[in-house]
Amino acid sequence: MTETPPPRRARAEIDLGALRANVRTLRARVAPHVRIMAVVKADAYGHGAVRCARAALGAGADWLGTATPHEALALRAAGITDVPVMCWLWTPGDPWDRGIEAGLDMSVSGMWALREVVAATEATGKRARIQLKADTGLGRNGCQPADWPELVAQALKAQARGLVKVTGLWSHFACADEPHHPSIAAQLDVFRSMLQYAEKAGVEPEVRHIANSPATLTLAEAHFDMVRPGIAMYGVSPSQGLGTSAELGLRPVMSLKASVALVKHVPAGHGVSYGHHYVTEGETTLGLVPLGYADGVPRHASGRGPVLVGGRVRTVAGRVAMDQFVVDLGGDTPEPGAEAVLFGSGERGEPTAEDWAVAADTIAYEIVTRIGARVPRVYPGNGD
Ligand SMILES: Cc1ncc(COP(=O)(O)O)c(C=O)c1O
Repeated sequence: MTETPPPRRARAEIDLGALRANVRTLRARVAPHVRIMAVVKADAYGHGAVRCARAALGAGADWLGTATPHEALALRAAGITDVPVMCWLWTPGDPWDRGIEAGLDMSVSGMWALREVVAATEATGKRARIQLKADTGLGRNGCQPADWPELVAQALKAQARGLVKVTGLWSHFACADEPHHPSIAAQLDVFRSMLQYAEKAGVEPEVRHIANSPATLTLAEAHFDMVRPGIAMYGVSPSQGLGTSAELGLRPVMSLKASVALVKHVPAGHGVSYGHHYVTEGETTLGLVPLGYADGVPRHASGRGPVLVGGRVRTVAGRVAMDQFVVDLGGDTPEPGAEAVLFGSGERGEPTAEDWAVAADTIAYEIVTRIGARVPRVYPGNGD
């Protein structure tokens, strides 16, 4: 039997060379003793977790980070066994035992989690590596300052019994993408005092960390022993306020491309796509792009999303549908099968994920991360 060839319809090209360059750029931004945790949660923000993890490690990252334990276990199952992997989003009943067996660094934000991990150590007979997470002001996961003394005391008790090792103390910023936001200094103050408390009580962490991409790029005093960049590694700016990826010296890693499925002439006054929110002004040509919101193209960018076709940037005409949308080609007649580039590095005149974020009134994180499973990721030329 012959294998089904990859679909011509659309593809997300992943430039691992760019990812490696971004890791080296980030490495140059931090002091030599500061370790880099490459954040590869959510399938490496849609770029392919295992490929990106290997590329990041090859370029100088020291740790890997995921949200869920299942994401972390998948890295181990893929053969990444010789570097520390941390995961931080645990839900009651999650597989702590498998995390222990896999040598994961498991985040603990509250007493329920400590109880579950301790029970799992008793079941497996092995010591767990845990990192205590402090809520220094984000108000999301993490232990409140008022509850910190109890969490620290109970974790140290379990450590004294040989059940766990507290390998890290950590937190996460709320507004690091808005430099000088008053919450940044406030969170750093709370983090320092929660660190001091835990260390005085007897915790000897291997790593203390709080910095995501924006803090890695802008705030050396937040680097501590390790930084945890995600979006910057994928070559995307964390926020418009920090500048474009090019201004930050980062190279976008993902290019989203499709093959134009149909080109046709239509008369003036022709409605386009559901709801007829776009009506042709004059006689023109339309190009059908076979990607839609099921592929992660935001419906919110209807009438606004930019697409490079035939050497010119066009705009989505009318609504983005589930599987397809249309661009007005203004009389141009590229061949069916011509390349439509929704976003890429910007170096060849194509839009960037940041441009799509503006068009869809969202953040570029969401643009790259939501590209659907129906779009194959391809790794041209530069493998890993
Ligand atoms: C706990 C934690 N650390 C680090 C990151 C990486 O953040 P960024 O992609 O802004 O670098 C994330 C992502 O949201 C996160 O949840």
